[in-house]
Amino acid sequence: MIPQPIDFQTLPEQEARRFHDFLNVYRAELFPQDPPIPFEERLKGWRYPAQHEVSRAFALLEGTRVMGLADAEWQDDQPENHDIAWSFVLVAPEARRRGLGRILAQTLLESVLLEGRTKLFLATYAKIPAGEPFAHKMGARRGLEEHTHQLLLEGRNKDYVRHALEKAPLERFELVWLDSVYPESELEALCEVFQIMNTAPRGDLEFNDFKVTPEQLRQDAENSCLHDKRWWLLLARDRTTGRYAGFTEVSWHLNRPAIVNQYGTGVDPAFRGHGLGGWLKAAMLERLVQDRPFVDRIRTGNADSNVPMLRINHSLGFKPFLARVEWQLDVKVALEGLRARGKVLS
Ligand SMILES: CC(C)(COP(=O)(O)OP(=O)(O)OC[C@H]1O[C@@H](n2cnc3c(N)ncnc32)[C@H](O)[C@@H]1OP(=O)(O)O)[C@@H](O)C(=O)NCCC(=O)NCCS
Repeated sequence: MIPQPIDFQTLPEQEARRFHDFLNVYRAELFPQDPPIPFEERLKGWRYPAQHEVSRAFALLEGTRVMGLADAEWQDDQPENHDIAWSFVLVAPEARRRGLGRILAQTLLESVLLEGRTKLFLATYAKIPAGEPFAHKMGARRGLEEHTHQLLLEGRNKDYVRHALEKAPLERFELVWLDSVYPESELEALCEVFQIMNTAPRGDLEFNDFKVTPEQLRQDAENSCLHDKRWWLLLARDRTTGRYAGFTEVSWHLNRPAIVNQYGTGVDPAFRGHGLGGWLKAAMLERLVQDRPFVDRIRTGNADSNVPMLRINHSLGFKPFLARVEWQLDVKVALEGLRARGKVLS
């Protein structure tokens, strides 16, 4: 079996469906309680990728059967991190421990190296214990320990929410809601506030601070709309200066309206210690309960070392749901390691 390059933008629909089924098996390994992604949704994602997203994928096929898939993705509009890519290697459960993962990893590494991507990040999940020894054998090193936390809304801590809303520093800050639209006039200020996420713990992962541009925000909003995602952004604004002090954001897919993802939550270091983080999250939760009463869970990812964020999340009733490790792999070193162990085919 030799890995074949796959272009999901142009792959005939019949073949795309086989990859779709393969990926849904993996998704069910991680999220057995969630509905599967519908084919139309995934196909649309493949056919209309974000404008600056680059993806390189390789598959191992036995006849028409998908046995494994490896993929690396990056943004070509982020010069501050021109050398990194996010990747995964996935082998069909029944075909594991036969060396397929290694063959796919090797092909992917050789391919991304040619494009100047010398650092790969990959994630493994405690639910699939094979991931960690595999990542280790490929020459990756642990970068960041994380958990996805989940709040089942029926189990939320109503007392904490009420308390966080009551003690909100309303004399100094006001809340601003943006529902799936970024006003042009606010783009520069929003770029600043999103860059607060550069202060989130990144463990031993080596990447440079990311820079957000107005154009990226315009495209993100357009892309979310195209792919049937909706989002709410909640900001805390300093009444005197008009400066945004912090934010939290949630999003959901129209196909899965009961499941909400809470991505970034950040408070500018200059405004920490005023209870803004807890207020923002409590206010978002309260609005979800009021305006979208059918939502039954919220998920959010946190580094295990992020003490302040974890304290707020635990107080709200979030519970650890999925343990995950982010790994970093130096592409040249990994290929040398595989070669030294006689693992490289070419
Ligand atoms: C991780 C995964 C890709 C491995 O695929 P695979 O085809 O079974 O791996 P290989 O047979 O090529 O094994 C490669 C090396 O990893 C080791 N390895 C793989 N699975 C292992 C396990 N469960 N326990 C211990 N070692 C393991 C192998 O012994 C081999 O070591 P070697 O190079 O010294 O011979 C597969 O289990 C999978 O798809 N898991 C879900 C997705 C995932 O976690 N991906 C990894 C991060 S992106």
